[in-house]
Amino acid sequence: MDIIRKVFGYLPDGRAVDSFCLINDNRHSVTVLTLGGIIQSVQVPDCDGDLGEVILGCDCLSDYLSQHAYLGAIVGRYANRIAGGNLPIGRRSVQLDCNDGLHHLHGGKNGFSHRLWQPAFDVTENSVHLVLSLFSPDGDQHYPGTLQVKVTYQWNNDDELKLSYQAVTDQLTPVNLTNHSYFNLGHDNHCLNHQVQLFSDTWLPADKQGIPQGKMAEVCGTPMDLRQMTSIKEGLESLFGPIQKAGGFDHNWLIRGYDPQKKNHLLPVADVSESGSGRILQVYSTLPGVQFYTGNFLEGVSGRQGYNYPKHGGFCLETQFYPDSPHHPEFPSCWLKPGQIYDHKTCYRFGVKA
Ligand code: GLA
Repeated sequence: MDIIRKVFGYLPDGRAVDSFCLINDNRHSVTVLTLGGIIQSVQVPDCDGDLGEVILGCDCLSDYLSQHAYLGAIVGRYANRIAGGNLPIGRRSVQLDCNDGLHHLHGGKNGFSHRLWQPAFDVTENSVHLVLSLFSPDGDQHYPGTLQVKVTYQWNNDDELKLSYQAVTDQLTPVNLTNHSYFNLGHDNHCLNHQVQLFSDTWLPADKQGIPQGKMAEVCGTPMDLRQMTSIKEGLESLFGPIQKAGGFDHNWLIRGYDPQKKNHLLPVADVSESGSGRILQVYSTLPGVQFYTGNFLEGVSGRQGYNYPKHGGFCLETQFYPDSPHHPEFPSCWLKPGQIYDHKTCYRFGVKA
């Protein structure tokens, strides 16, 4: 177990952005930046034992600063959309930044993905931890209340990356933290040949701008039924209106078995496999939903070594509260009160097919 710290680059105001490479005993690694808590690299073996990259990313800071795809970043204070940027709090309402057409997306223009986080780390016999902390002041992007946020990245010898999110507030505020990594487990420059299984029987129909209409829908009998391993290509080729309108998958599924009373209960979210490389990815989370997004807006986004990603270059599995929850009291509550602790975990387990 090891951790290697380097300066990754300098922000225009002169502050240094560090990278932390978390290395397990098999030399498989995860690299995280203090900018946005970005997972910049994950290097794990394929079925021939060859180490390779499974996360989309850039190799210099300026490429991260010039893109809007949230590559690998921690997204908050509220991941996904809030309709009209309008936040109802009791009898008043707060107007958040509308940075996605008419709506608020991923915490606004200067959300957590764009901030410099404070690092601390620890190496134990069986895992290596990086803790990133962020102080979000009252009124940050117009959100009410001070929020103190901590994200722990734990990497172990079983190639498990565990992300733990914690936050406390001094005023009622919505909190929805996720990681926006795009995965590509194979050797192709697109993710179409991946097979995906989601442990979900229902999804959340949304309008063209990704705002849920409030009703949950059964996946049964539709191309949103990913309960068995399904190729991404097959899903994208379907003529199903919601997939056509979004240019691919960019929808929220409800995790089977979620129970708000069972705190800290990790449920299976997704299994993914890619036959060319033999790699697999399993995702578990304590959160009630997952935005499965197939990189529909990725075209032209800077990648490594001067390479630009194509549309569908990777896919995201963003575990989270449902989009626009502040307008839906019937959804699992995203509200954090003073004295409570926001405490959620998502685990990504990498491997190869047996
Ligand atoms: C999320 C959204 C997408 C898109 C990406 C960022 O996954 O659901 O619609 O905005 O972030 O490119």
